[in-house]
Amino acid sequence: VDVEAPVSPHNAYAPAASGDLEETARQVRAEGGSVETATIDVRDSGKLDGFLERAVEAFGGRLDVVVANAGISNWNRFWEMDDDQWTTMIDVNLTGVWRTMKAATPLMIRAGNGGSMILVSSVAGLKALPGAAHYSAAKHGVVGLANAAAIELGEYNIRVNTVHPWAVDTPMARGAGYKTIYDAHPGFAASFTSVLPNLPVADTSDISNGIVWLASDLSRSVTGLQLTMDMGATKQ
Ligand SMILES: NC(=O)c1ccc[n+]([C@@H]2O[C@H](COP(=O)([O-])OP(=O)(O)OC[C@H]3O[C@@H](n4cnc5c(N)ncnc54)[C@H](O)[C@@H]3O)[C@@H](O)[C@H]2O)c1
Repeated sequence: VDVEAPVSPHNAYAPAASGDLEETARQVRAEGGSVETATIDVRDSGKLDGFLERAVEAFGGRLDVVVANAGISNWNRFWEMDDDQWTTMIDVNLTGVWRTMKAATPLMIRAGNGGSMILVSSVAGLKALPGAAHYSAAKHGVVGLANAAAIELGEYNIRVNTVHPWAVDTPMARGAGYKTIYDAHPGFAASFTSVLPNLPVADTSDISNGIVWLASDLSRSVTGLQLTMDMGATKQ
């Protein structure tokens, strides 16, 4: 599921475009997999519910793994944001994760074979990210949501964990928004950095490898974990 459209006028990077999901589906099919996709905004509970019902039906009634990855990023000091910049961030990056889990949970419980939910947070969900207090608040909120859900879903053998990347080479990270604010306030930049000289920025596969581990039974004893994949950035 992806919105395949611009989400906030404050985002200073290229949005996903119409056709991107189809390209993802093409790559899955090329590997011999089956896939169902839908262009949906995670702010739309009704559409999420309807799509998940249809997709679970198409896959024989099972829903084993949920990855809540949709998110946006933009920059400003907290008192200089207008209400829309703040509320859109919380609505997508925190409430969108809750809506995704809310739509998926009854189907996972009904299927009755346990499962794994992986919520994509950020280093900003563990440590302050100056210049993006709204993003940091939303990503910290994801941790609280995950850990409460891990307890509530434990009796159904559904595990809930979060992942916490630092910089990852994606369109979001290539946006220039952070540079404007960090150039104006050089002290902000001390908050994070990779401690691995050969890996200042992660590849998407560095993150998806961790997600695959959390999705698999190799991590069957793991729930309520905050998995940092941040080149040590949160330890600085
Ligand atoms: N890139 C980084 O450095 C980095 C670091 C830490 C965490 N993250 C997190 O990783 C996740 C993926 O980000 P990315 O770097 O791949 O960014 P990206 O912009 O490349 O991809 C994000 C995807 O989410 C989709 N999306 C955004 N809002 C949506 C909505 N309302 N409904 C449905 N889909 C929506 C976008 O269309 C896009 O395809 C995000 O949650 C982000 O906060 C990214």
